[in-house]
Amino acid sequence: MPDSWANSAGAQPSTLGTDLHLELTGSGLRAGLTDALREAVRTGRLVAGTRLPSSRSLAADLGIARNTVADAYAELVAEGWLTAQQGSGTQVARRAEPRRVAPITQSRLAQLRPTYSLLPGSPDLAGFPRKQWLAAARRAVTAAPDDAFGYGDARGREELRTVLADYLARVRGVYATSAQIVICSGFHHGLMLIAHALRAQGARAVAIESYGLDLYRDVLTSAGLRTPTIAVDERGARIDDLARLRGVSAVLLTPAHQYPTGVALHPDRRAAAVDWARATGGLLLEDDYDGEFRYDRQPVGAVQGLDPERVVYFGSVSKSLAPGLRLGWMVLPEEQVPQIVAAKGHGDYMSSAVEQLTLAQFIASGAYEGHVRAMRLRYRRRRDQLVTAMAQRAPYIRVVGLAAGLQAVLELPRGTERAAVQAAAAHGLAVSGMAKFRYGVADSGSPAPEQDALVVNYAAPSDSAWAGALDALCRALT
Ligand SMILES: Cc1ncc(COP(=O)(O)O)c(C=O)c1O
Repeated sequence: MPDSWANSAGAQPSTLGTDLHLELTGSGLRAGLTDALREAVRTGRLVAGTRLPSSRSLAADLGIARNTVADAYAELVAEGWLTAQQGSGTQVARRAEPRRVAPITQSRLAQLRPTYSLLPGSPDLAGFPRKQWLAAARRAVTAAPDDAFGYGDARGREELRTVLADYLARVRGVYATSAQIVICSGFHHGLMLIAHALRAQGARAVAIESYGLDLYRDVLTSAGLRTPTIAVDERGARIDDLARLRGVSAVLLTPAHQYPTGVALHPDRRAAAVDWARATGGLLLEDDYDGEFRYDRQPVGAVQGLDPERVVYFGSVSKSLAPGLRLGWMVLPEEQVPQIVAAKGHGDYMSSAVEQLTLAQFIASGAYEGHVRAMRLRYRRRRDQLVTAMAQRAPYIRVVGLAAGLQAVLELPRGTERAAVQAAAAHGLAVSGMAKFRYGVADSGSPAPEQDALVVNYAAPSDSAWAGALDALCRALT
């Protein structure tokens, strides 16, 4: 088996790009290089054990920045295609060797994946309350009027909107009548709708926090909006930055628990955000994605309660129950409701009535709050175990962003983030570095402070996988 890049390629590294047909196409150099390398491994052009050139020399060969190559390597290590070991450089992973005759089977695909994942996004899916959900569905379908099975109100079922208005007022301090609520298929969908509605109203820019998910920034830019950033510090988003930005019609915030740094928006800044919206006629887009999960402190209520006419509030069952349900809600200033209904259009105008009625039953019966309570205990136990394990096995790491939510931030010594992600991958663990969530700050007034860190979603594994995931994390960091 070839053990060097040159052997496997049948050429010297200097001709590598051409001989291996590494075509750097696509949305960017890094994505293009990552895709090309992944394809080369997948198709067997690069076989298991092949040693790749250093990022410096590949960068020189391809005429691109060294960091671009290093980032592509790191991503492929995290995905399990490559391995990185001190002393032996970066190699094609043994387990990534493709089958040459038979097509890749599901079980083979499973082998290519890391054993554990602490990647952000998902709650513990094994904790989905199947029995109670089925019971709620049974009650919902039995009690549903005939018209529930027809084409319904684009805002969603009245039963669910009424239950939500009560629940959100009680638990999140949201002020709403059912008429202001529009059901959608999660935050992503809601953001898409408001982005298109705002653009149709003439908006040109929506500010975003300097840390967040590309996914949501892309939703805004796809609607034709610019997305200048405002910095995030230990008090949350720096609302003052808004004054320096021009032509901003709204700002997307995660006030209860900044995503993914984990800080809560300071009360002064909550007030300042509302002042900004009132003074400029702008809107606050409040993403309350994990507001129900608090551990050591009083719940932080929604900003929406401070001024329901200036805030669009978004909630979702994606963290509290399961993202697969694709159910969320928007609480809107009244004049925005027709605009959102218009943005939904005909092709996408309502979520499944049966799922909506089931959720209404589930919340009204108390099962929802019971489930959230049970999951909160489960996640809190894991969070405490994570803190204890780090204190014992990697005491140089500071764990922050712990008061709420499903993820914690592990602060690392400067310059070690990429290596930590790679080390985790080598231990069969997928975990994200903070860099992935840091936006450029080109047209922001102040740059985001750069702290090397891992974002650890301790909620993601099942109970049975949690201990293994935590151990892999500790081994990677010690
Ligand atoms: C920051 C943030 N907001 C919202 C959501 C929920 O998104 P959705 O309701 O579209 O599943 C998530 C889920 O991962 C998230 O990370």
